[in-house]
Amino acid sequence: MSTIGADQRLTKTDQLREHLSTLVGERLCPGDRLPTERELADEFGVSRLTVRRALDRLESERLVYRVQGAGTFASRRPITKTIEFTSFSEDMRSRGLSPGSRLLDAVETPAGARIGYALAISPADPVFRVRRVRTADDAPMCLETSHVPLALAPGLLDLPLEGSLYSLLETRFRIRLVRADQVIRATVLDPEEAELLQAMPLSPALLVERTAYDQRGRAVEVAKSLYRGDRYSYEIAIERTS
Ligand code: GLP
Repeated sequence: MSTIGADQRLTKTDQLREHLSTLVGERLCPGDRLPTERELADEFGVSRLTVRRALDRLESERLVYRVQGAGTFASRRPITKTIEFTSFSEDMRSRGLSPGSRLLDAVETPAGARIGYALAISPADPVFRVRRVRTADDAPMCLETSHVPLALAPGLLDLPLEGSLYSLLETRFRIRLVRADQVIRATVLDPEEAELLQAMPLSPALLVERTAYDQRGRAVEVAKSLYRGDRYSYEIAIERTS
């Protein structure tokens, strides 16, 4: 089926590009062969050079790969979303799950040595500590403890903390978190954690420790997120660079 004429405002080259990106993004499976340059040139009424350039672009974006003498093929789709900086809410939504929270407690407390160091404040400086059970489709997924300097988000504890903390920081305090240092390690749930996550004591879990920074480079959050090992997986795309 030709897409020519679908939208007369688009040039033929634009139509070709749009067609190719739908093809590799939605219709083809990894390893499927694309139509030949000649077929595409005929279908869209453009030169083979134009087709080649459009394919070069897809190849440089690693959406397709070429095999000499065999043609052009759709690449495996990159899993980039999991290495993007996301909040719990965004992460769950991207997995097709509905995020939620149950607030356990929210208190003001001195930062202490470890958290103070990570947040670049004095150990005596106050921080807010917020503990929540994070849910996905109403089932416990993660136990999360976040620390935020009081000086950066005064009044945070008076706000509703059941929704997205990052949205709250952005909308109420104009703090947009954009980057994090993160360590992920395997652990097991102690009896209290297991009860909160409705899992068996000593069952496996993933501990994600994060220091998150805003657009000005300030450390804004130090957090520990303890995920049920049977419900959560962390996927990253890796590739050989040499
Ligand atoms: C992730 C991070 C936490 C952060 C949370 C915010 O889970 N590991 O450090 O507190 O996202 O998520 P939300 O904005 O949904 O509250």
